Amino acid sequence: MTSAIGRVPIGRNPPIGRVVVLLGAPGAGKGTQAQILSERLGLAHVATGDLFRAAVRDETPLGLAAKGYMDRGELVPDGVTIEMLLERLAKPDAQAGILLDGFPRNTAQAEVLDKALAEKGGQVDLAPYIEVPEADLVARLGGRWICRAQGHPYHELNKQPAQSGVCDVDGSDLYQRTDDQPATVQARLRQQLGALDLVVDYYRKRAVLTVVDGRKDIGQVTVDLLAAIVPAIGSRG
Ligand code: AP5
Repeated sequence: MTSAIGRVPIGRNPPIGRVVVLLGAPGAGKGTQAQILSERLGLAHVATGDLFRAAVRDETPLGLAAKGYMDRGELVPDGVTIEMLLERLAKPDAQAGILLDGFPRNTAQAEVLDKALAEKGGQVDLAPYIEVPEADLVARLGGRWICRAQGHPYHELNKQPAQSGVCDVDGSDLYQRTDDQPATVQARLRQQLGALDLVVDYYRKRAVLTVVDGRKDIGQVTVDLLAAIVPAIGSRG
């Protein structure tokens, strides 16, 4: 049996667990927080940006298709993005619950996600929106370094590694993403913030949105997110 919305097998899968959708503009801190929260909450961290970067690195057909869009700061077309996401959701570790980072990016993706989760007896339990002013986003992306192995994020001022150029977690080297160049950062913000507003409205209307002040330091944002998420995912049957 296959899903009505894709070629991903369903039916034999057990019902999916809790689903949290972390929302925020480029540079808001989604990846930083998702890595901490997924471990604390026992949820699989599913980041479409990380999946695309791995595909680009491995030069797969998906990576070759996505690279131009990413380099221009545009969203990758929904067809390939949604298929990639549904394949990821079908993997065993996702069945216990997921923390989504970077998906959905528009209302079409949000609708597909709702349908996919409903087929597995699930739903979006909470959509925390990490809100950060645009000027702060530019500074964060311009100073960001990420690790080659797993994408752990650092910042030259806000979050420095213990040893310069080396990831604290896995020891791989740190590099700057090509889409963090100033011109591409401007393009990403220009092209993606409007769609983000619509996704925020989508979840507000479904009464699962919660807004967290992303200007606070990383530790305090984690505390605020946990205070919102733990009651929400603990309350479903
Ligand atoms: P993606 O990788 O998802 O990039 P993004 O959304 O632009 O988000 P970022 O990874 O840039 O930022 P973040 O919010 O994770 O911030 P971070 O924690 O690193 O997507 C890349 C591209 O892939 C897209 O442009 C698109 O082309 C494509 N794509 C991905 N998903 C797609 C989809 N669903 N549909 C279509 N296309 C898609 O933090 C940023 C910096 O700030 C770091 O240096 C960090 O150390 C620092 N920092 C974090 N928190 C704080 C804090 N509280 N205070 C101070 N500094 C902080």
